[in-house]
Amino acid sequence: MLTERPEWKALQAHRAAMDNVHMRSLFADPKRFDRFHIEFGGLLLDYSRNRTTDETIKLLLDLAHACKIENWRDRMFAGDRINNSEDRAVLHTALRRPAGDIVMVDGENVMPFIHDTLRKMQSFSKAVRTGMWTGHTGQKIKTVVNIGIGGSDLGPLMVCEALAHLPERMDVRFVSNVDGAHLNLTLRGLDPETTLFIIASKTFTTQETMANAVTARAWLINAMQDTKAVAKHFVALSTNEKAVAEFGVAAENMFPFRDWVGGRYSLWSAIGLSICLAYGFETFRALLSGGHEMDRHFQEEPLERNMPVIMALLGLWYRNFWDAQSYAVLPYAQELHRLPAFLQQLDMESNGKSVDRDGKPLSYPTGPVVFGEPGTNSQHSFMQLIHQGTNFVPCDFIGTLEAPIPVGEHHKLLLANMAAQAQALMQGRTAAEAGGDTRRAFSGNRPSNILLLDRLDARHLGMLIALFEHKVFVQGILWNINSFDQWGVELGKTLAGKILRDIDDGARQDIDSSTKYLIKRFKKPS
Ligand code: F6P
Repeated sequence: MLTERPEWKALQAHRAAMDNVHMRSLFADPKRFDRFHIEFGGLLLDYSRNRTTDETIKLLLDLAHACKIENWRDRMFAGDRINNSEDRAVLHTALRRPAGDIVMVDGENVMPFIHDTLRKMQSFSKAVRTGMWTGHTGQKIKTVVNIGIGGSDLGPLMVCEALAHLPERMDVRFVSNVDGAHLNLTLRGLDPETTLFIIASKTFTTQETMANAVTARAWLINAMQDTKAVAKHFVALSTNEKAVAEFGVAAENMFPFRDWVGGRYSLWSAIGLSICLAYGFETFRALLSGGHEMDRHFQEEPLERNMPVIMALLGLWYRNFWDAQSYAVLPYAQELHRLPAFLQQLDMESNGKSVDRDGKPLSYPTGPVVFGEPGTNSQHSFMQLIHQGTNFVPCDFIGTLEAPIPVGEHHKLLLANMAAQAQALMQGRTAAEAGGDTRRAFSGNRPSNILLLDRLDARHLGMLIALFEHKVFVQGILWNINSFDQWGVELGKTLAGKILRDIDDGARQDIDSSTKYLIKRFKKPS
């Protein structure tokens, strides 16, 4: 049990000793930054603004060793079935590996399958972007609409937004919500003859995605007055060949992946087709290679120089020893505006667990509530609470040295604000410094990391995403949970199906009075 480990108890004792240590005093050491940062491949992690000493990091690393992080990491990369509740391997990392590598799953080297799919994505995206692929009436495709939800939406959407400054972007849109307004508003003004739909769903059974796909298909057929039009206007990304065929998408228009790719880790798989269409295959390839660089860093660097490991340990330090219930991610890059939403799914769907890998209740907190917004907007909304509120909210700031779109002095302003927020959180302001006015004083000593990318290109973005994936993985191992299932989500899906039937057939007697009342109202709106 985690909390019985001597390494855990040593951290508890150390935590008590750290109670009154202020980061201001820690920064009296002019070498603090030198000791608490990691830099590689154009990515800097500055973790000097934490309530940590050398001793803290040593004790955290002792815990990581005791939890056999390296062994679990190697098992993941090797294709062991570490997703034990679903009896699956966890191999999104294989999707980023070069073709010559060998990764065995059930006696099959999966690398040829991965690279066959990549080649198919490459030729299809080239054909659509150059106009070689035409719609049913021979017109060039002008707009792509990706229909998917969760990992089949958030990953590619976030990446497409993050690279919006790149030239030659094709118009790619995303529909996720089953709220008909989402599809309806997205299709407004679009010409069916020049629109291509991507149905992105690992299972091809997700209620929201299938409802949107069926409506989109009807929209197309209605406009074309020909069911054969589907062949040139719908492609599918899925693991479920049978359901894709039943929907009416031919095998040659299906881009497959396998069940060892978790939904929230799937942007690197065929699910990334929208990225290839938006920016061209070479951009997608650069994203994969950035992800692979981070994989190698994670695999090869000792734990004390290992970015995802250090970030995971700091997160655990605050979650379990300082009672931090939430954590904020603050990209100082407008184009990363969907990164917090992506990380919410990655982190909260992975580590929002209260039983261990064997289903036994846990006695300690696991994944935090993740939230965030781009800076500087966040400074004018919730940052007040993080500076002066009663909650303890560790932050990750993310900035880029180069401006993706240089405009006057804007980038300097942006970065200055980011550095100022981290500094203000760290040092605070004493009552004396505030002229004796305690209303204007704040404690400081509030931790943050700074992640600095040389630039926001596909390669650096790939590194950044893989960094967070591995951070979440390490935390899951430390907490002894399975980060790769999501049984909580499944219950909601089952109940939605039952309530849907109740709306048509009348409410069952054995359900709670509130749901019964709601079903009655849904049936007969007043
Ligand atoms: O939200 C639950 C979930 O299972 C996610 O993990 C997944 O990304 C999403 O649903 C979509 O699933 P699918 O790709 O099968 O439609």
